[in-house]
Amino acid sequence: MPSKKTLQIVDYQATKPLDNQVFNRLTRLYIMALLAVAILSLLGQLLIQVFLNSLLDDSHVVNIAGRQRMLSQRLSKTAVLLCRPQIFQADAKFYSQDIKEIINLWELSHDALKNNNLRTEGRAYTVRNSEKTDSMFREIDPIFRVILANAKLINATINKPIKNQQEFLQKPLNQILAHERLFLKMMDKIVFQYDLESRERVAMTKKIELYLFILLFSILIVEGAFIFRPIANNIRLVIKKITDSESILRQTNEVLLATQKALVQATEDKYKLQLAEEKVRAASLMEGQESERKRLAQDLHDGIGQMLTGLRLHSEKVKSFSFINAKQEKSFDELQNLIQETIEATRTVSFNLAPSVLSDFGVVPAIRILTEQVAKISDLKFDFQALNVRRLPEGIEVCLYRITQEAIHNAVKYSKASLIIIQITDNKDVVKLLVADNGEGFEIKSIRKSLGGSGLKNMQARAELLNGSFKIQSKIGKGTTIKVEIPK
Ligand SMILES: Nc1ncnc2c1ncn2[C@@H]1O[C@H](COP(=O)(O)OP(=O)(O)OP(=O)(O)O)[C@@H](O)[C@H]1O
Ligand SMILES: [Mg+2]
Repeated sequence: MPSKKTLQIVDYQATKPLDNQVFNRLTRLYIMALLAVAILSLLGQLLIQVFLNSLLDDSHVVNIAGRQRMLSQRLSKTAVLLCRPQIFQADAKFYSQDIKEIINLWELSHDALKNNNLRTEGRAYTVRNSEKTDSMFREIDPIFRVILANAKLINATINKPIKNQQEFLQKPLNQILAHERLFLKMMDKIVFQYDLESRERVAMTKKIELYLFILLFSILIVEGAFIFRPIANNIRLVIKKITDSESILRQTNEVLLATQKALVQATEDKYKLQLAEEKVRAASLMEGQESERKRLAQDLHDGIGQMLTGLRLHSEKVKSFSFINAKQEKSFDELQNLIQETIEATRTVSFNLAPSVLSDFGVVPAIRILTEQVAKISDLKFDFQALNVRRLPEGIEVCLYRITQEAIHNAVKYSKASLIIIQITDNKDVVKLLVADNGEGFEIKSIRKSLGGSGLKNMQARAELLNGSFKIQSKIGKGTTIKVEIPK
């Protein structure tokens, strides 16, 4: 069963092209995934920046608070030294200057820490006073004020010419010394408190960082499960579909190719069949023609020929009778000559139709007689050669005889040749015939285009019927040559 998701994809594919659909879906999912990761990373970075700044502030505050302790000690020491000039007479001037600076810095720093207004070398630092440090400052403040007021008094008095100055200064000095230890103790606590709160903030930031990391990790897992996995599945589905369609395409192609091949084969077979049918038809036609010629020749020879011979014998008998006059005798002689000519003409026609010598003695004697007959009635000379020719199958003999006969007739009719060469060669597997005249020749191309007679076509058809070849070469002024090869 396909899942709901798969069905959705299939529906979507039906309305949009596959590549667009996959691209849009991937882009949307990747943007969502990357945005989530980017936002979380940015948040982490911001947090670290803020945390580092606050850490810088905190350490500065701890530093300043520690310095307050040190300044209070320096203040006490300087006050003591100023009130006892006999000890450090030489440095009195230095100490009186020093106490002023210490007072200023000490007061400034105390107020800055207390009122959250710390500024050093042009940079403002945040003092995060908690309720606890606030109350601690409230506690320390009166002590600080006492020490400050007495220090200021010593400072103001020290350079004035006052009688019994030492005794006058003793009281403020005592005040300072009396409060100094308490101040130190409390300031210590404040420094520790600052340090503690700073460490607490570090721990808190670490915790937040950890939460952010866990969140980022969870988002990555969620993305993996709900974005990247479906994408991977989708890609797999798409690739599968592509591969499936590829193989379907290949199969279709193969089927198409096979069909095409079968079609070509069928057409070829049909063509071959048609050719074979035509061949059979032509063969039977020629065979029919040949037997018809034979029958006609026989009829002529045995019928009209015999009758004419009878007529001539009869005329011989009639000749033994005496004629009325010489004119009558001359007419009778002429009649006898006519009968003789008719007998010879009938023989020639009968021979041309189907020479009995062909079936009785073979193609060589038949052609020889043919050439002798033609030589008798024309100026043509013949050069007839027959090499190794014995009796051949009847079909081949008839074919060779008819082709030679037509070639000789054409040469007589058109070539104005003086010589005709005829060669028959009987090789092991093939019989070759060549008929060449030295006449005018002709342009084969123009004959092929025109309807022309059927002599040349018949020659070719006869040769091809016996699976042989027929070639004709002719050049104007150079005569015509016919070459035939018939396999045995
Ligand atoms: N030996 C040749 N010399 C010169 N021209 C030739 C020769 N043989 C054939 N031809 C030319 O080729 C043409 C075609 O010859 P083909 O034997 O096919 O037909 P045909 O002799 O005109 O008619 P049919 O043979 O049917 O009585 C001829 O008309 C002739 O012009
Ligand atoms: Mg002809």
